Amino acid sequence: MPFYNTDKIDVLFDEETLSQRIRQLGEQITADYSADEPLVMVGVLKGSFLFLADLCRAVDLPVEIDFLGLSSYGDSEQSSGVVRVTQDLSRSIEGKHVIVVEDIVDTGLTMAYLLENLATRNPASVKIASLLHKPARTKVDIPIDYLGFEIPDRFVIGYGLDSQNKLRNLPFIGVNVGDGLPI
Ligand code: IMP
Ligand code: MG
Repeated sequence: MPFYNTDKIDVLFDEETLSQRIRQLGEQITADYSADEPLVMVGVLKGSFLFLADLCRAVDLPVEIDFLGLSSYGDSEQSSGVVRVTQDLSRSIEGKHVIVVEDIVDTGLTMAYLLENLATRNPASVKIASLLHKPARTKVDIPIDYLGFEIPDRFVIGYGLDSQNKLRNLPFIGVNVGDGLPI
């Protein structure tokens, strides 16, 4: 028996669906960049950690991996619009091609803040890879260069995405259809 209640979670994207789509995104990235120019994939913590782990292994190029800690939510399911940097990049991105790797673009507020912040550091270019996008909730239009899936306006969990800091370790993406955490 898994630790979560399978009756309380609707699976949106199972492991096989995720891995197939991520392999395609990896092929696109491989085709779009050159092995001769510096490329760094920047995972936005914490939600992107599994997506980044799978995506970077689907990219057949020498890439640098770095992380940025951002927090916009607290424990609530509503974006506060206030973004806090909780951990900065470990190395300079000046002159490097950057792919920001996000779990989900929801209102777009977090990514808008991040793009502005990264632009001040003089990267060669900045593109965005996001596993999910909720177009119904857009407040700021964000161009997503590598998108996994568009989803309806539902709060999703699993494969890096949390509810109250739990359920990130579900191997699939699902919707909580119960009251409270489905644990
Ligand atoms: P935004 O600033 O509204 O675009 O929110 C971006 C961040 O909110 C994402 O990186 C997630 O960490 C979090 N978030 C937004 N929607 C969901 C969801 O459905 N499940 C879990 N986290 C979410
Ligand atoms: Mg996030």
